Amino acid sequence: MQATAAAHRHHLYSPFTAPSFSHHLSQTTRIGSRRRRRSPAPFGVRMSLRDDGPALAVVGVTGAVGQEFLRVLSDRDFPYRSIRMLASHRSAGRLIPFEGRDYVVEELRPESFDGVDIALFSAGGSISKEMGPAAVERGAIVVDNSSAFRMDPEVPLVIPEVNPDAMAHIRLNGRSNGALIANPNCSTIICLMAATPLHRHAKVMRMVVSTYQAASGAGAAAMEELELQTREVLDGKQPTCKIFKKQYAFNLFSHNAPVLSNGYNEEEMKMVKETRKIWNDMDVKVTATCIRVPVMRAHAESMNLQFENPLDEDTARQILNGAPGVVVIDDRTSNDFPTPLEVSNKDDVAVGRIRQDLSQDGNLGLDIFVCGDQIRKGAALNAIQIAEKLLQ
Ligand SMILES: NC(=O)c1ccc[n+]([C@@H]2O[C@H](COP(=O)([O-])OP(=O)(O)OC[C@H]3O[C@@H](n4cnc5c(N)ncnc54)[C@H](OP(=O)(O)O)[C@@H]3O)[C@@H](O)[C@H]2O)c1
Repeated sequence: MQATAAAHRHHLYSPFTAPSFSHHLSQTTRIGSRRRRRSPAPFGVRMSLRDDGPALAVVGVTGAVGQEFLRVLSDRDFPYRSIRMLASHRSAGRLIPFEGRDYVVEELRPESFDGVDIALFSAGGSISKEMGPAAVERGAIVVDNSSAFRMDPEVPLVIPEVNPDAMAHIRLNGRSNGALIANPNCSTIICLMAATPLHRHAKVMRMVVSTYQAASGAGAAAMEELELQTREVLDGKQPTCKIFKKQYAFNLFSHNAPVLSNGYNEEEMKMVKETRKIWNDMDVKVTATCIRVPVMRAHAESMNLQFENPLDEDTARQILNGAPGVVVIDDRTSNDFPTPLEVSNKDDVAVGRIRQDLSQDGNLGLDIFVCGDQIRKGAALNAIQIAEKLLQ
């Protein structure tokens, strides 16, 4: 546990020493030694361009998630025979270097998907709704990061470590017939990476979640705004508020998603509904409060879990220690627990503060604190793990 925590520290990053927010998007490492450390130079040498790989398209390639798609593809040596880089007309013609080649960004059109096997979408819900079906019609398997299709009963909503069976019927064998697979909401993914191993053991009946969500969850422009505002406030200037209505630097506020008639905002309701779909359990009770905090990258979540069967904290720690994609940082003696900085640019979700909920008798409750890089495991990595399953 300590060795892992030390490995995290080694890659600590200070927002105040970085040249720009793009740094947050450009350095890729993994917790522990399961994967090689990448060179700081983005997209080093070409390794995965292969005639027998699928033809890929990355939709929204200039965005926070789109750029992370490229890093994760490269990091995992994902095989491909071609990649189309797609964005809006604003970015058309821009050059994007990737694995030793320069790619020209093309304006997204339905024809962009001609001959594409796998399309990774991260350009927002309205683009997915419009272009997802066009891609499927042309035979592409779409892995979509937006909320457009998540609650469609025909569309699998998948976290590969949690419910891979939901997409077992979709595989890429040569050319496909086209299909849609949805990537869950980033807060849901991070929450369920930690909660599912415990759920499998003791069955979660109710979950109370409070999130502390980073700027990166709102895209590249929000990261820029947080950086700019921080400089402005330190310089004694009025902060520029374009993406968020309120001052973000040195502040926090309720998540910017629209508030619904039941008083919950959309982000909170995504956690409620998506958990039920992913666990295939319409009875699990989930309530969430989602807060935007002035952290550049990686979300944190405080979770209270109520179980049907007893689960003591030592067993829970043991279960989480063995869970794929999860790392435990839980050292009470030195008050050492997960932080967003430590998980930034990392694949694993970190869990700590594992303790029995004193308000529930019979070891029927636990409190945990979770941090995860939501651009990576909460978006790009999860989508590419789904794409890897398509190749199996
Ligand atoms: N950020 C996260 O942590 C996260 C996590 C999970 C899911 N998501 C979802 O992923 C999607 C993208 O998020 P993001 O954070 O990457 O946003 P972002 O940084 O604002 O990037 C948006 C991307 O969409 C492209 N785009 C916008 N309008 C377009 C159009 N009309 N046609 C084609 N491309 C268009 C943009 O291209 P231009 O540069 O040309 O404008 C850019 O590449 C959203 O649906 C978001 O909900 C994000």
